[in-house]
Amino acid sequence: MSRSDVPASDGKQKLASSEVETAPPCTLVIFGAAGDLTKRLLMPALYNLAAGGLLSEGLKIVGIDHNDRTSEGWRDDLSQTMQSFTQDRTSEFHPDSIDPHHWGFIRERLTFTKGDFEAAETYRRLAQDIGGNAIFYLAVSARFFGPVVDHLGAAGLLKEGEGAFRRVVIEKPFGTDLASARALNARILNQADESQVFRIDHFLGKETVQSILALRFANAMLEPIWNAHHIDHVQITAAETIGVEQRGGFYEPTGALRDMVPNHLFQLLSMVAMEPPGSFDAEEIRNEKARLEEAVRPVTPDQAVRGQYASGEEHGHAVRGYREEADVSADSRTETYAALKLSIDNPRWSGVPFYLRTGKRLAGRLTEIAVHFKPPSHGLFAGTDLAPNIMRVHIDPDQGLSTQWNTKRPGPDMHLGAVTSSVRFGDFFTEAPSVGYETLIYDCMIGDPTLFQRADAIEAGWAAVDPLIRAWGDAPVELYASGSNGPAGADALLACDGRAWLPLAEG
Ligand code: BG6
Repeated sequence: MSRSDVPASDGKQKLASSEVETAPPCTLVIFGAAGDLTKRLLMPALYNLAAGGLLSEGLKIVGIDHNDRTSEGWRDDLSQTMQSFTQDRTSEFHPDSIDPHHWGFIRERLTFTKGDFEAAETYRRLAQDIGGNAIFYLAVSARFFGPVVDHLGAAGLLKEGEGAFRRVVIEKPFGTDLASARALNARILNQADESQVFRIDHFLGKETVQSILALRFANAMLEPIWNAHHIDHVQITAAETIGVEQRGGFYEPTGALRDMVPNHLFQLLSMVAMEPPGSFDAEEIRNEKARLEEAVRPVTPDQAVRGQYASGEEHGHAVRGYREEADVSADSRTETYAALKLSIDNPRWSGVPFYLRTGKRLAGRLTEIAVHFKPPSHGLFAGTDLAPNIMRVHIDPDQGLSTQWNTKRPGPDMHLGAVTSSVRFGDFFTEAPSVGYETLIYDCMIGDPTLFQRADAIEAGWAAVDPLIRAWGDAPVELYASGSNGPAGADALLACDGRAWLPLAEG
């Protein structure tokens, strides 16, 4: 799909000028109602939206899944799960208590329908029950994306008419390589218009990711230096301390590259590197993001490193290696770590490498973008211990900004010392409770596609990593100890350019 195929924006603006409005009435149909995503993220997000007064009295929520249960049973299960979050500090959602009024608002709108996602009958029944605005949320395994959309189309459920909208929300993974992503886009666009398709990348629901646009374009001092004249390189990191947990079955055929790079890391990349959009119009922003992703030169194997965690330690406890995890083959060659050096073929970034790394069971939990500036062109301090200026955008677990500067150490001589100024956004703003899906659900209800992935951008992301996917196939992986900074090859990737990764953990 090319940008010329993209329908003109309906004028929705991401830039809020006044009070946020209540979303219009609609029926939210959740395929995968019994699944983890529904319990862990969608219900808490709907609850938070209800608490913010952002949902319409006319909202209905219909859950569909294979399981035998009643609407009352579903409501009770979800009520219990919501309650259990108050005791679980590790969950994304951990309120001190559940407000009965706000949860009651959601609970009384829930109805459950047993249905096979691949049976026409399920959709015939839905078509009888649904009128007016509807959102079909596909919280299901990726193999159902195509069939569900085909059935929705065949049952006439995607026909928009009489001022009513019909939208489809699709979770990741969107394809497993360029060819499959193209095929899935074509299949979906056979049934629905691009303007009806909302492809989720949950990184775009993170506040700090959205704030990159404000940082870059609302601060006049940054734009003049945001280019190859002043920036030496950029490091983008999404490091986790956890392993694959219960997801070995999904992860084995997927690996770190497919799981994280063309989607989540490319979202960070496009936010930090895109050209300024002409306005906050959704399509203008999405045009610039797609243009940037299309300018990424396809990555070759000599510009990338793949690793897999061996046994080691996590927070002082011995942990097993990836090959010992459940549903993982004993001689698996799936990578749990990927590092890539990217080049962007446009005037702004000519000659500036973007280094991306992501992995599991690493030394620290850290999602951030670190922009490394060039040394001053005037050689006044040449030959001294001049530190690089680095601006870091902290996304997880902290949200904020820090910048490393050079200053004079106190004393009679001119000796430099590096200092860091840091800002935690939480010290300045009170954020409404969020699990990261609130904005995405609300934006879908109001029809603002800014934070959703358009077909062309998805395909551009896959195109950039496709040569690597093909080259890696079943190639060997480099082992790294759990709790370490990753494979030695990743350090070598930067060392041969005379650079080094920032540490993943303090100290
Ligand atoms: C998911 C991946 O999309 O993102 C997971 O499938 C990964 O493997 C997760 O752990 C990371 O997201 P977050 O928001 O926890 O950084």
